[in-house]
Amino acid sequence: MPEPVTVPPFAVISGAQVQRALQGREKQIVELVEATYRLHGAGDSVNPPSYFLRFPDRPSSRIIALPASIGGRVRVDGIKWISSFPGNVASGIPRASAVLILNDHYTGYPFACLESSIISATRTAASAALAADRLSRGRQRPTRVGFVGTGLIARYIHTFLVGTGWSFDDIGVHDLSADSAAGFRCHLEQSGADGRITVHDSAEQLIRSSDLVVFATVAGEPHVHELSWFEHNPLVLHVSLRDLAPEILLASTNVVDDIEHCLKADTSPHLAEQLTGNRDFLLGTLDDVMAGRVTVPEGRPVVFSPFGLGVLDLAVGKWVHDEVARSQELHVIDDFFHELRRYG
Ligand SMILES: NC(=O)c1ccc[n+]([C@@H]2O[C@H](COP(=O)([O-])OP(=O)(O)OC[C@H]3O[C@@H](n4cnc5c(N)ncnc54)[C@H](O)[C@@H]3O)[C@@H](O)[C@H]2O)c1
Repeated sequence: MPEPVTVPPFAVISGAQVQRALQGREKQIVELVEATYRLHGAGDSVNPPSYFLRFPDRPSSRIIALPASIGGRVRVDGIKWISSFPGNVASGIPRASAVLILNDHYTGYPFACLESSIISATRTAASAALAADRLSRGRQRPTRVGFVGTGLIARYIHTFLVGTGWSFDDIGVHDLSADSAAGFRCHLEQSGADGRITVHDSAEQLIRSSDLVVFATVAGEPHVHELSWFEHNPLVLHVSLRDLAPEILLASTNVVDDIEHCLKADTSPHLAEQLTGNRDFLLGTLDDVMAGRVTVPEGRPVVFSPFGLGVLDLAVGKWVHDEVARSQELHVIDDFFHELRRYG
């Protein structure tokens, strides 16, 4: 006899609860992200293309829907709905805001709504820290990190690198906004970060003096074109996806999170595909590297361009939900689903 299914309770999880659940859990979350990439690589997920809602009257803003389904032991479906309004930063509020809805595997019922800007930044930073580790094996481990674009994502990536065992002799900082660069520097100092902190006036200075370069800007099109800036073969975490001219990718080893996802929406890998008419410039996915199906060659820059997969949000969101439930702090909304008898 199949188990009778019931309507699950519906809970709302605040940003404060999300942050408490994730605080200090960097290693665990990187392991979770790694396991999720493996599940996705093995085909035990559904991750359709993200839908970009854009507005003719507000061309720099967008809201993206990332529906996904994940199998394995996690077994959850859902959607992240994330806004990017870059103009917010001038008013002192974050660019991105988001919710994540988790749906029950058996009934389809939504059972949680979570504040998700923290989950999104967390999974992005965990993926970057995982890539930094996996892509630097077999080459000298970087000791000089540089951040181009120093907002929330840069802060989370630094926290995840340190939380997973990285330490640096030098930390470079570059941002078009002097206030952002100063704010990030202040955060690094207050968090007791190891290493000399240098604010660079140009992306060139920063790239030339870093062997691990993190791009976390809001650039809509490439602003870095000079191949010679990369002649020391750095490892580049190209999290903001649109900073590098396609020529730089063509002279580098390229790793992505998901090929179909990443070659869309005018990302630099998408521009490289348009320029060459093929995908030969891609080595493979991070999962291919982790599984040993491809090997990262020495003697070239390595660029990781992660499109950002909905399955990662689901995996981290479900983990947070289960943590909050375990500590009996779920705010359940009684009677959220009300019309439950077919004929009243
Ligand atoms: N790939 C993924 O999975 C993923 C996930 C989350 C966010 N992101 C991307 O990360 C980026 C950063 O997000 P955030 O929340 O930190 O944004 P933010 O607005 O808080 O910070 C971005 C910073 O970049 C600076 N900047 C813009 N253009 C620049 C340039 N050409 N050179 C140097 N600095 C520049 C801005 O002044 C700002 O300080 C966004 O593009 C976002 O879409 C990617």
